[in-house]
Amino acid sequence: MNKLTAANTYIQKHKETVRNRPLFHFTPEVGWMNDPNGFSFYQGEYHLFYQYNPYDIVWNDMHWGHATTNDFVNWHHKPVALANDKLYDANGCFSGSAIEKDGKLFLMYTGHIDPNMGFDKDESQIIEHQCLAFSEDGIQFEKYQKNPIIGEKELPEGYMMCDFRDPKVLEVDGVYFCVLAVRNAERRGEIIMFQSLNLFDWTFYSSIYQSKFDENMMLECPDLFRVDGKDVLIFSIMPCDPKFQGEVIHKTAYVIGKMDYEKGSFELEHQGLLDYGHNFYAPQSAEGKNGERIIIGWMQRWNQAAPPRDYGFNGMMSLPRVLTLKDNKLIQRPIREIDSYFGHRTIHKNATLKMNETIDFHGGKAAYLRVNASILEKQKFQLELNKSEDKATRIHVDIENAMISFTSDYGEFSQIDISECCNALQEEVALEVFMDLHSIEVFINSGEKVLSFTAYDQEKGTDISIRGLSQTRLKEIVYATFKPEG
Ligand code: FRU
Repeated sequence: MNKLTAANTYIQKHKETVRNRPLFHFTPEVGWMNDPNGFSFYQGEYHLFYQYNPYDIVWNDMHWGHATTNDFVNWHHKPVALANDKLYDANGCFSGSAIEKDGKLFLMYTGHIDPNMGFDKDESQIIEHQCLAFSEDGIQFEKYQKNPIIGEKELPEGYMMCDFRDPKVLEVDGVYFCVLAVRNAERRGEIIMFQSLNLFDWTFYSSIYQSKFDENMMLECPDLFRVDGKDVLIFSIMPCDPKFQGEVIHKTAYVIGKMDYEKGSFELEHQGLLDYGHNFYAPQSAEGKNGERIIIGWMQRWNQAAPPRDYGFNGMMSLPRVLTLKDNKLIQRPIREIDSYFGHRTIHKNATLKMNETIDFHGGKAAYLRVNASILEKQKFQLELNKSEDKATRIHVDIENAMISFTSDYGEFSQIDISECCNALQEEVALEVFMDLHSIEVFINSGEKVLSFTAYDQEKGTDISIRGLSQTRLKEIVYATFKPEG
């Protein structure tokens, strides 16, 4: 049996063992999942591929899993698209992207070779190079006979083949470009660009973004796209060298500016974080069916506690977010399709709370909560989510100091403080919270700042309270529970 058939046979045999899936977040059919790959709209539906090990709930032996959807809540699992079954991708089909050309769907991915498998690397033996596969129906993929298409020959001197991955392909005026993560000779992360006229033959174009030496960063999973007349580059940061593990926190950043395709340079104008939590990594964007830009991220990070083994899966995707620009910031809104899945809305207008008084909602395991508070009153209040007798996740809002803090008694967690959450120009602070069985996503001020949180504790409380920590007046509170039928 070949590797692809073996993976699909294994999945069919074991998928029924998976328990406790989230209600509205994508999870693999069984086993381990990390980065979203090949996110695209092709032949009338959204396709999401992902880094996948069907055989266990730990990272290993990367395949590309595959699912399709029309509304981002109901996903249809498809057969595994790629298995690491060639010499050039023997130790993993690593992250990459998709593009449609002449009616076919092309996948560009990294073939990973590491005879020692794993993170204790002997760099001299690791090879990462770029490969291509294509399909006429978006389901069955054929690997290109002349893979790899970007390898040692194409990578200029001064870059390391052992960390050269995650091609994100784009088309600009009939020319293909792809951005890639690489380490330079000083072992620091750069994002480089290659160019092609046909997707098969690629030449080095330029280095478009370089990290500073003392930042100790590798810039994984770069993505370059246009939003509202500007170019946006996103990347995920991890320590560039195991020596710096612990000093560099995994996070996902964006820079806004101008990509000059003539000169091959990116002029940076503004920068920010895509997510303030510890659980959003390797996001990838696609152009939606109406021309909008949608991103989806792996709602987890490396070295994080796993769900209990008997759940049978490890890894979720975030809610997809639609990107726009406002005041030089990237705004992220949850995809609109999710709205219809929240029924029975309870609305309070101009609710007043005394110190320690609460408004309570019950049954909030998978729920939506929105709170709008005027910034004129210097009030403090707290959202208490997944509340049990002695545990909760808390979002503390301090309008006077423009600070939102997030703490949780669940998961492995250190407090997150988000400053500058409001300013005098704004009328109100708005918080929108999406709670699922194992996650919370908070959108602050209509998506100016976002925070993702995951915790797989089995016994989470289901109550929600909004508590006044001063005399508080809330302009509007909306609460709704999740209804699976949409
Ligand atoms: C990011 C990443 C990618 C790589 C993949 C391997 O999470 O490290 O750079 O392609 O995961 O699974």
